[in-house]
Amino acid sequence: MHNYEYVVIGNPISHSKSPFIHQQFAKQTAIAHHYGSLLVELGAFEKSVKQFFEQGGKGANVTLPFKQEAFALADHLTERAQCAGAVNTLKLLDNGEILGDNTDGVGLVSDLHRHFTLLDNAKILILGAGGAARGAIQPLLQAGYQLSISNRTQSKAEAMINEFKEIGILSLHLESDTHHDYDLIINATSSGVSGNRPPLSEHCFTSKTSCYDMFYQAGNTPFIDWAISHNVKETADGLGMLVGQAAHAFALWHDIMPDIDPVIMQLRSEMSA
Ligand code: ATR
Repeated sequence: MHNYEYVVIGNPISHSKSPFIHQQFAKQTAIAHHYGSLLVELGAFEKSVKQFFEQGGKGANVTLPFKQEAFALADHLTERAQCAGAVNTLKLLDNGEILGDNTDGVGLVSDLHRHFTLLDNAKILILGAGGAARGAIQPLLQAGYQLSISNRTQSKAEAMINEFKEIGILSLHLESDTHHDYDLIINATSSGVSGNRPPLSEHCFTSKTSCYDMFYQAGNTPFIDWAISHNVKETADGLGMLVGQAAHAFALWHDIMPDIDPVIMQLRSEMSA
């Protein structure tokens, strides 16, 4: 089936940038790290993962649509995977059991710090109530930020707030709110995939608002273009988050944290070529 010790598993998978990113980390650290991609049919995730580890696999990244199945499959979960309810990194332990981790949140928070200066109690609005938003909540609350959430389908945002109310401040953003003073607005919806932006009152954008899109593409995303047209303070897309989550997965497997900046620059220049 493959000779890789490390893979990214998903469906679709052919456009994944993870093999390129991990090749760069391997070069940088001089660690033998044979990393490829594995396309898995829907319904065949568990079987494929077991087979991969039986045939010499040591670690896997998991992407859409399998992050929940990876969560269910893992024998042990890190605290951050437990909170996210999803797993993006699997590691074979010495005793043959599988550890599930989630490095998306730490990838996001470290990328936010690379781009923006956020005060300890910064007010952040998260747009979306799917898997990407869910994974962002716990690490952002843990970092001490005040979170509000808004979603096209309000009931899903409300359900998410209820679910997380034990661990911190999370409030519902209502369009009828007249006073907006967000320091940061994060687009965690999948609207960019179809060339759209999420609905939001333009009054949310002020000259002190930074905007981050977890989505990325060559050039500005629709959300970032829209934010820039309203003169927000600064913007960034999710390419650094992608490389950051990969770096934290690499660190889980090899105990070395690679340098993400040169890899982000390489990807950015390839995407704009
Ligand atoms: P992911 O795991 O990437 O977050 P998901 O679980 O399918 O993906 O969730 C997608 C999120 O993007 C949802 O919050 C969805 O809003 P709804 O709950 O109303 O469906 C949001 N979304 C997707 N397309 C959107 C669009 N064009 N405008 C606004 N929100 C959108």
